Amino acid sequence: MGRPDDRNLTWHPGKVSPERRRALLGQRGAVVWLTGLSGSGKSTLAVELEHALLERGHVAFVLDGDNVRHGLNADLGFGEADRTENIRRVGHVARLFADAGVIVLTAFISPFRADRAAVRALLPDDAFLEVHVSTPLAVCEARDPKGLYARARAGEIPHFTGISSPYEAPERPDLAVDTAQLSLDRCVERLFALLTARGVLAGGRGRTDQG
Ligand code: ADX
Repeated sequence: MGRPDDRNLTWHPGKVSPERRRALLGQRGAVVWLTGLSGSGKSTLAVELEHALLERGHVAFVLDGDNVRHGLNADLGFGEADRTENIRRVGHVARLFADAGVIVLTAFISPFRADRAAVRALLPDDAFLEVHVSTPLAVCEARDPKGLYARARAGEIPHFTGISSPYEAPERPDLAVDTAQLSLDRCVERLFALLTARGVLAGGRGRTDQG
């Protein structure tokens, strides 16, 4: 064990190594970070993938923006600083789950590149998979499942992503899926293929160039 730091805190190591945990669980903890506009399909995809993974005997868990903002992040709004803090906290929670060996599926707009990069930096190289749910704004707005785009256009919701607040698309995502072009099943297949190719699921071949 190390020496206490200047706040008198000491990291207490566990008994189970990451390798042993991986062998026992038959999977490697990882974070599938879904980013995209409101109404792009992030939550729907995350919930479907979670179900598919659990049905195949894997341990997966969804962290969803709307849900997390009911509890842990109930004190945060939608200004730039609050969104950054939202993603910072979620990043640390996701990291803890990934350390526990869970496949974490996050569904947050996470509009800022720097915030997503900061989460990536918390995790081992192969444990953060950025997935752009790239459904175009026009489609998200036409769907408007919560009626929020109409209200944002009417000026009733300030700082609404895509309308009055920016969305910075990933430049080199590990995967991009447009739910206007692909069915839900096809999108889930692609996510599964990504997890397999990157060696997250037992039987995977490890990292590949194709992703
Ligand atoms: S993030 O930008 O901080 O990543 P997050 O994913 O947690 O956002 O929350 C987004 C959800 O909050 C949206 O799906 C929508 O239901 C709701 N919401 C309320 N106000 C806003 C707003 N101003 N901009 C975007 N989403 C909003």
